[in-house]
Amino acid sequence: MAPSVLSSFPTLDEKTLYHENGAQKHLKLRVFEYNDEQHAEDLEGLKIGEHGYKYRLLEGQVMPPYVTPDRYSLSRRIETKPSDICFTSFPKSGSTWLSYILVLMTENRGTSLRDSLHWVESSWTYPRSEEDLQRASDPRIFKSHMPYDMALGGVPAQNACRYIYIARNPKDVITSYFHFEKEKSWSGYYEGDWNHWFEQFVEGRVQRGDWFHHVLSWWEHRDSGNVLFLKYEDLKKDTAAVVREIAAFLKIELSAAKIDEIVERSNFQTMKSDDVLGDVKEFNQFFRKGKVGSWKEQFTVAQNEFFDELCREKFAGTGLSFEEL
Ligand code: PPS
Repeated sequence: MAPSVLSSFPTLDEKTLYHENGAQKHLKLRVFEYNDEQHAEDLEGLKIGEHGYKYRLLEGQVMPPYVTPDRYSLSRRIETKPSDICFTSFPKSGSTWLSYILVLMTENRGTSLRDSLHWVESSWTYPRSEEDLQRASDPRIFKSHMPYDMALGGVPAQNACRYIYIARNPKDVITSYFHFEKEKSWSGYYEGDWNHWFEQFVEGRVQRGDWFHHVLSWWEHRDSGNVLFLKYEDLKKDTAAVVREIAAFLKIELSAAKIDEIVERSNFQTMKSDDVLGDVKEFNQFFRKGKVGSWKEQFTVAQNEFFDELCREKFAGTGLSFEEL
């Protein structure tokens, strides 16, 4: 297949872009699996944990190897504008779903989902230079998986960006993350079993760090004018209502027909069959179950009891709760 350069954003994998089936929708950016030489930039900072789990530490938190000190620093110093939107989450919480809704809502999209978003903290899959970011069209839509104290643009309360955080029942997050992270290039082909993963997660030793710290750090700021805090379970239960909530937050007017279109195009089956992520070699299992409560097929009774107690302790006095927890 003949290579063609489709994106206005040059990427590390630009020469592998190709055009398939003639239709714009099927234009794909092939992204090779993560590898240290090409994507880690700073090899000295890489660490290998139990069962080969690869990570690096930034601000004391466990991060993926492709979140390099340089990329992180760029993400912190980037100057934000009032039109910017940054969707943020702990991994496996529905951020890709949210991102697709945002792209459909703002109609500011490139030829693929990846082409429409900027993931500044990452050296892999959506890399942009500082110049790319400056000339990107508005509204710029940023992806981030950082806790509040490591957010894109510096301290959220002191910058112009609008942040939309999405959280998910942590039992579903642990489950989804286990299936996603196992034996992947960016995890060092981690080969721990479920019980090991469960312990790692509880101890905050998975990439992106401590789930409770992450979610509560944003939850504390949920009433700030430029922060909208969403839950995966609400999006699942009534997508149209959450789409309206996002539109109100972003001050975007949407017709009833447009809301219907967004709901239809962003549903699990449609996103899965439209292959909105494009061709990332290791993402072929990305759209796994897409439901609430899949942890019930994974947790042991003892793990469930332990985790319930942990949540009671961590959520005490915060007002945060999740359905089917
Ligand atoms: S990532 O890799 O961290 O960015 O993952 P993220 O996109 O945050 O979360 C992936 C999980 O979200 C599910 N998903 C969806 N659920 C419902 N509807 C739609 N449209 C949708 N799109 C993605 C995806 O299947 C992952 O959850 P699990 O439980 O593994 O299926």
